[in-house]
Amino acid sequence: MKYFRYVWMLLFFMAVSALPVTGLMATVSEQACIKCHQEISPGQVADWRASKHSREDVGCTTCHGEKHMEAKDCKQALMPDEKVCAQCHEDQFNQFTKGKHNLGWASMMALPVTHLEPDILIEGGRGCGGCHNMGVKTEAQKQAQLRLGYRYQTNSCDECHTRHAFSKKEALNPRACQQCHMGFDHPQWEMWSSSKHGARALIKEVGDLPKGANAPKCQTCHMPDGSHDNHTAWGFLGVRLPLPQDPQWKADRITILKALSVLNPETGKPTGLLDAVKTLDLARLTQEAWQTERDEMLQICARCHSKSYAQKQLEMGDDMLRQADRLMAQAIEIVAGLYRDAIIQKPEAYPFNYPNLLFFMRTGGGNLNKLSHIDQILLKMYLKHRMRTFQGFFHINPDYAYWYGWASMVDDLGKIQETAGLMRATHAKGK
Ligand code: HEC
Ligand code: HEC
Ligand code: HEC
Ligand code: HEC
Ligand code: HEC
Ligand code: HEC
Ligand code: HEC
Ligand code: HEC
Repeated sequence: MKYFRYVWMLLFFMAVSALPVTGLMATVSEQACIKCHQEISPGQVADWRASKHSREDVGCTTCHGEKHMEAKDCKQALMPDEKVCAQCHEDQFNQFTKGKHNLGWASMMALPVTHLEPDILIEGGRGCGGCHNMGVKTEAQKQAQLRLGYRYQTNSCDECHTRHAFSKKEALNPRACQQCHMGFDHPQWEMWSSSKHGARALIKEVGDLPKGANAPKCQTCHMPDGSHDNHTAWGFLGVRLPLPQDPQWKADRITILKALSVLNPETGKPTGLLDAVKTLDLARLTQEAWQTERDEMLQICARCHSKSYAQKQLEMGDDMLRQADRLMAQAIEIVAGLYRDAIIQKPEAYPFNYPNLLFFMRTGGGNLNKLSHIDQILLKMYLKHRMRTFQGFFHINPDYAYWYGWASMVDDLGKIQETAGLMRATHAKGK
């Protein structure tokens, strides 16, 4: 018995004495980091001082380690990935890994076109990679990036909680989403900020609304109650399984899926890409999966609207997508006819002799950048104008839904019809 008492005493003594020693060592190096970086990068230190971390002893060494202590060994500083944050924020990390943002890097890398672009726009993080730097990277992905000479962009959490303030308030501001959800094919920032919802949220921000008056921002609808797991029903591509019951819409969808090379244009059978669609969650693959997302969204609308009102708005959005698909399929079929009749030559990198909407603005292979003009119109019709038609509708923006969306699709289809006619005439003359 006596013996045990000594062991306990010894253990207790070791525990209390060990704490201050390691604590003290950490404080010493921590102070060195701050002292030196206060001189060389004061803005960074000021940001960190403004953070909750600085008050909770989460310092430079917690995230960057202690191996670098002088200018010449600065490459020894660790670049912390999301797992470092997970040590203290497990809930947010776990939610994040179940959401769409966690698939940003993988879905970009899955596209053949990505590998035809300059590295600097991908791994360097100033083009596709600047926005798709979301997702916990595998060791292989990190090594691939290092081999190309890029050692940054290892953390997704700092995309909304910008380093080094790592602020919740900042991430709750819709501007935290602006850098990525804008522009060519997903102008959610532009649509929302000029919609009734956005305008009112911005009026509210400057305090010109009665206290308690409501307006939803991105986070209200997409990260409700602090959830880091984000999905929508239709998603970016605006397609899903099972195919629609309406026969015309079903046929149009099949045409679109062929142009996305998910279906083989010759046989109509699924291609290998369907697996990627599954793993990357590019589309909801069952009615239930789609309905769950839709129901969750409706619950949110119902915080401020009647359910019937909101439901009608969302159903009109679905119907807009159906009508947009009619225009889209007509355009694809016209261009597909030009491939079939060898008026357009199949670009080397294309898997099929059929227009391909996943090559964005490039053809790849031997004739880089030499995408036919009519293919360019088709791509813009899909990526820019079809997106605006339904995304503008869902974000309650009349001008995007009509002029930048629907009206532009009608314009594209007209141009495609006329250009195809001219191409056929020139081709016949050449023979
Ligand atoms: C004697 C001064 C000094 C001390 C002490 C110091 N640093 Fe640095 N640190 C630098 C310099 C200089 C750079 C390089 C700046 C540049 O590239 O312009 C740097 C760069 C860094 C980088 C970026 C590395 C990169 O690849 O861009 C990190 C992260 C960093 N320091 C963290 C720390 C941490 C954490 C500590 C404390 C453990 C620390 N520093 C201590 C001077 C110092
Ligand atoms: C909570 C974690 C955390 C803490 C604490 C932290 N950093 Fe960082 N730091 C990061 C992350 C994340 C990155 C970005 C890594 C990347 O892009 O790969 C980063 C990047 C950097 C960089 C390189 C990028 C740049 O913008 O220059 C420097 C330098 C740096 N930190 C210095 C510091 C210093 C000095 C401190 C202490 C005052 C500190 N960090 C505290 C997480 C942290
Ligand atoms: C060693 C533990 C630790 C690590 C590692 C850590 N944090 Fe924290 N973090 C904390 C503590 C403690 C708080 C303060 C919690 C509180 O006040 O409720 C905090 C608060 C936060 C907050 C909320 C700030 C606010 O304004 O309310 C965010 C966001 C955050 N951390 C993000 C991160 C990110 C991103 C990383 C990784 C780059 C990270 N943290 C790494 C411990 C940590
Ligand atoms: C301005 C930021 C930005 C740039 C640049 C960007 N993307 Fe995206 N990308 C996004 C956002 C945001 C989404 C999701 C949009 C949505 O759901 O409406 C997305 C969606 C996607 C998707 C579909 C993911 C899905 O779940 O359906 C793929 C694939 C993709 N991008 C690849 C690329 C490639 C390849 C490039 C470069 C040629 C690129 N992106 C450039 C921000 C960007
Ligand atoms: C009032 C709620 C609401 C607000 C506010 C809102 N959205 Fe949405 N968002 C929706 C709905 C509804 C959809 C379509 C859901 C579906 O597919 O059924 C959607 C879809 C999306 C999508 C998928 C592609 C698309 O556009 O259809 C992204 C990405 C997105 N929103 C981002 C944002 C961003 C970023 C903001 C802020 C700038 C924002 N949203 C503001 C309700 C909202
Ligand atoms: C797409 C933007 C976005 C990304 C990426 C993101 N967060 Fe957040 N985070 C938010 C928002 C918005 C909130 C505020 C939620 C709320 O309270 O409604 C938040 C809140 C937090 C909080 C504070 C929780 C609390 O209530 O005190 C922590 C901690 C946090 N995030 C950690 C992380 C970590 C760790 C990661 C990476 C795995 C991460 N976040 C990635 C947007 C983001
Ligand atoms: C660093 C860039 C970046 C930031 C910042 C960002 N996102 Fe995203 N977001 C993306 C990318 C990239 C995707 C597509 C991921 C993929 O490829 O699967 C995406 C996807 C989404 C989706 C899923 C759409 C779908 O297909 O169902 C929603 C919803 C969303 N983001 C909302 C937000 C909100 C809200 C914020 C701000 C709090 C935000 N995002 C901040 C880049 C970003
Ligand atoms: C946080 C409260 C809030 C949420 C959540 C919300 N709205 Fe609204 N919404 C408003 C307010 C306030 C207005 C402006 C007053 C009005 O027209 O009812 C508005 C207006 C509208 C309008 C009319 C726009 C116009 O031009 O008159 C539509 C349509 C709409 N919302 C649909 C939706 C849908 C669909 C959802 C869910 C995806 C949703 N709202 C979620 C508060 C909200």
